[in-house]
Amino acid sequence: MKRASQKSRAPRAQPGELARLRSALAEANEALRAIRSGEVDAVVVVGKRGPQVFTLQGAEQVYRVLIESMNEGALTLTPDKMILYANHCFARMVKSRLEKVIGGSFRRYLSADDRLMLRKSLKRVGASGLKFQVLLIASDGSKLPVQISLKPLAKNGTRRATVGMVVTDMTEARRTEEMLRALTHRVVQVQEAERGRVAYELHDNITQLICAVLFRSQALAEKLSPHEGTSKIEAIKLRELLSRTAEEVDRISHNLGPNVLENLGLVAAMGDTSAEFENRTGVSVKLTCTQLKAPLAADIELAFFRILQEALRNVEKHASARNVSVRLGRQGEFIRFAINDDGVGFNADRGPDKGKGRGGLGLLSMHERAICVGGTLTLSSADRSGTEIEVLVPLAHGSVASN
Ligand SMILES: Nc1ncnc2c1ncn2[C@@H]1O[C@H](COP(=O)(O)OP(=O)(O)OP(=O)(O)O)[C@@H](O)[C@H]1O
Ligand SMILES: [Mg+2]
Repeated sequence: MKRASQKSRAPRAQPGELARLRSALAEANEALRAIRSGEVDAVVVVGKRGPQVFTLQGAEQVYRVLIESMNEGALTLTPDKMILYANHCFARMVKSRLEKVIGGSFRRYLSADDRLMLRKSLKRVGASGLKFQVLLIASDGSKLPVQISLKPLAKNGTRRATVGMVVTDMTEARRTEEMLRALTHRVVQVQEAERGRVAYELHDNITQLICAVLFRSQALAEKLSPHEGTSKIEAIKLRELLSRTAEEVDRISHNLGPNVLENLGLVAAMGDTSAEFENRTGVSVKLTCTQLKAPLAADIELAFFRILQEALRNVEKHASARNVSVRLGRQGEFIRFAINDDGVGFNADRGPDKGKGRGGLGLLSMHERAICVGGTLTLSSADRSGTEIEVLVPLAHGSVASN
């Protein structure tokens, strides 16, 4: 019997064909490696029925684990603010079950004002995203201060994109902020009390002593007869020097204490300070105060007065200015207090604290004064183009009876 033993032989590949196959194999290996390492989460296969997209479960899983382990809420919203996806952390924040959260509207966790803010934010969110703070209302009605970070995701063929959202609990940050504000407030109060004490000591003790020495030197100058020559001249010089010292100590104690403000009121006290500054330094000061509807609260008056003193000290020390303008008035819902000089200016953006506390304490204390009365202070300056200090205090904080 004849056994047919004919081995089927594979056709031999040509050298060019072999190179092409090797390159295809290398490409396939690389794709496999990328899939295994999670670098790829979808594959497009071009077949007879056109390109088909396959999502890879394994790769998606890596992100899902990451998002679930986050200590922040993570969501994706449709353009109509419907929740497509939320992690467990967000469900905990709103004290609800995840199944109830997903598919519902995100708006239900916001107050009417915050819904409006969300709508406006969604309209203007650009590719780089944006952040804002709201109060999240949980299912039991409790409120949680949060920061929302928005970022547009895929557009899915429509004009409006789905949105990725990260929700950060701000309770701790708010508490720290409040503690810091209370501390700042206390520092300013202590500083004010200390200034008062030093002013009192200067006025009641040092000035009295200087005056006593001044009278003695006056008596000495008068007792010495003209033919005692240089001794009499020295006694007269001594008396003059002491007289100037008494004036300077008086000026310092006057500026330290709040009496001038209490006696004259803000506008007159600013006029007094500006005139004294102008006479002493030769720098012209223009003061413009527009009538406010209601008198300012005492703590605001004190804050503005101290800011002016500190700003004028800086003009004298650093600015080499010829003119200073001081303006107090209303700007929309704010009281605006601004001090400009036309001096050398400085780079206010230099350093991490943008001009605050560049070695000195003046700018820092001005910021603190503004914050203490619920306001903000903005410093604008650049080398060789003068300096502007602008304080804005909401009217609601600012006046004794705001109207
Ligand atoms: N009006 C100004 N013109 C030019 N430079 C200024 C002006 N105000 C502040 N600066 C600059 O900012 C720095 C910080 O000012 P700040 O008042 O905080 O400190 P200081 O005046 O140096 O010291 P201190 O106020 O504690 O006596 C100054 O050293 C100066 O370089
Ligand atoms: Mg200073």
